[in-house]
Amino acid sequence: MTPEPMKILFLAAEAAPLVKVGGLGDVAGSLPPALRQLPPEVTGGRPLDVRVVIPFHGEVQQRLPAPEWVTNLLVERASGAVQARVFKVNAGGQVYYLISGPPIDQPLPVYSPDDRVNGEKYIFFSLAALELARQLTWQPDILHAHDWHTAIAVYRLCQNRLVDPFFQNTRSLLTIHNLPYLGGDATEILAEYGIPPTQNRSLPAWARSFPLPLGLLAADKISAVSPSYAREILTPEFGCGLQDFLATRQQDIHGILNGIDTAAWDPATDPGIPRPYSIDTLDLRRANKTALQEELGLPVSDDPLLVFIGRMDNQKGVDLAIEGLRKALELPWQAVFLGTGSALLESAARSMESEHPDRFRAVIRFDAALSRRLYAGGDMLLMPSRYEPCGLAQMIAMRYGCVPVARATGGLIDSIRDSRPGSPGTGFLFSDTSGGGLEAALNRAFQAYQNADAWQAIQKNGMEQDFSWTRSAIEYAKIYHQMSEDAS
Ligand code: GLC
Repeated sequence: MTPEPMKILFLAAEAAPLVKVGGLGDVAGSLPPALRQLPPEVTGGRPLDVRVVIPFHGEVQQRLPAPEWVTNLLVERASGAVQARVFKVNAGGQVYYLISGPPIDQPLPVYSPDDRVNGEKYIFFSLAALELARQLTWQPDILHAHDWHTAIAVYRLCQNRLVDPFFQNTRSLLTIHNLPYLGGDATEILAEYGIPPTQNRSLPAWARSFPLPLGLLAADKISAVSPSYAREILTPEFGCGLQDFLATRQQDIHGILNGIDTAAWDPATDPGIPRPYSIDTLDLRRANKTALQEELGLPVSDDPLLVFIGRMDNQKGVDLAIEGLRKALELPWQAVFLGTGSALLESAARSMESEHPDRFRAVIRFDAALSRRLYAGGDMLLMPSRYEPCGLAQMIAMRYGCVPVARATGGLIDSIRDSRPGSPGTGFLFSDTSGGGLEAALNRAFQAYQNADAWQAIQKNGMEQDFSWTRSAIEYAKIYHQMSEDAS
């Protein structure tokens, strides 16, 4: 007899390829297929049936005009029940349910700058997603929610299962991708749905009506997207005021490093780069650097080419990168910054370009195609993040032989091994959050770069790392398994 599949209800605000704003979209796009493909020996013999549910965001509605209709359902609300319509698409073998309804249908960005608008949308989404499972009579063994946007599903589940046989055996895992985004004070919206704030005193009083803290209180297990971040959130520096509460849950907090899609990110087969190469043909990589310098109008030279790829916001330390480069003007670098974000940081990057037109380029746009050419042609990736729950760019960069120079924080600590003279690692790490920290790390990196053999050793170490999703999926499967054993 084939064993019953373990049913995982997987809720997220975004999931590639349907909608992707940041790293969460990559995770929700790549982890579910990796979970489904795990061999039975690591899932306790039970195959994993993972159903991903995301909001049917306005921008997705425009791109996907006619998905298959699944069902309509009602979400109870004091002012009258609100109807959700649910659709389904199959992308690359993975089923995605898309939930629409009045708070979701408006032509809004995926994340609004307005807490209230976001709260209305994501709390409705979270409650509708739970209702969907019931409507489909698909009793989940595990509810796996991500970040504040879906945390209220965890909180509601915890209340429901005391009285509702349908969810009695459902256990929950809430994954933290970015702790500072707590979801704002949702007292009024929750009251509309008949959900009282908690009285539980282990949460600080201010947090008792915020979605993420409520989810963290109610979740059977919690995970963070790297082991180091799982430890950092217990400290005042990274705990966002929740560190003491999180300490009470320490036994249930796991750190699991994200992976990358190693088929989609492979310099040997990447059709988007001028000259494919592998660890055995690393010399070919040079053609990509030359092409990039020509494309961006930088002098074609051997000087190290530094790249920054990512959101231009405070978290990512764009200002630290610029400050560090200013301090290191005597080093022979060229640099390209690609990304969009805060107007202030974008303009800091533009000023840097006007001051140093012969060595700096600010490309202020979202350009996934150019990012591939940067990973393939850049010598070093700058990643001076103030905090970094996991980080994706450093893993892609290493796979492409582009050596990360990064702050020793969160997932950067867990994925990069610092290089020392005579002891090549996979990159260069620094702790200091002033531009001076980056400058010192750049000095060390430039020293290593002088010696072609030493440099290649670092590049090859990085290219040999296993950042595949299978490794992470096994860890998640273990937690699912453990929780479902506890439930039965
Ligand atoms: C958030 C974090 C980033 C992480 C991503 C996916 O965007 O800032 O560090 O890699 O989530 O988990």
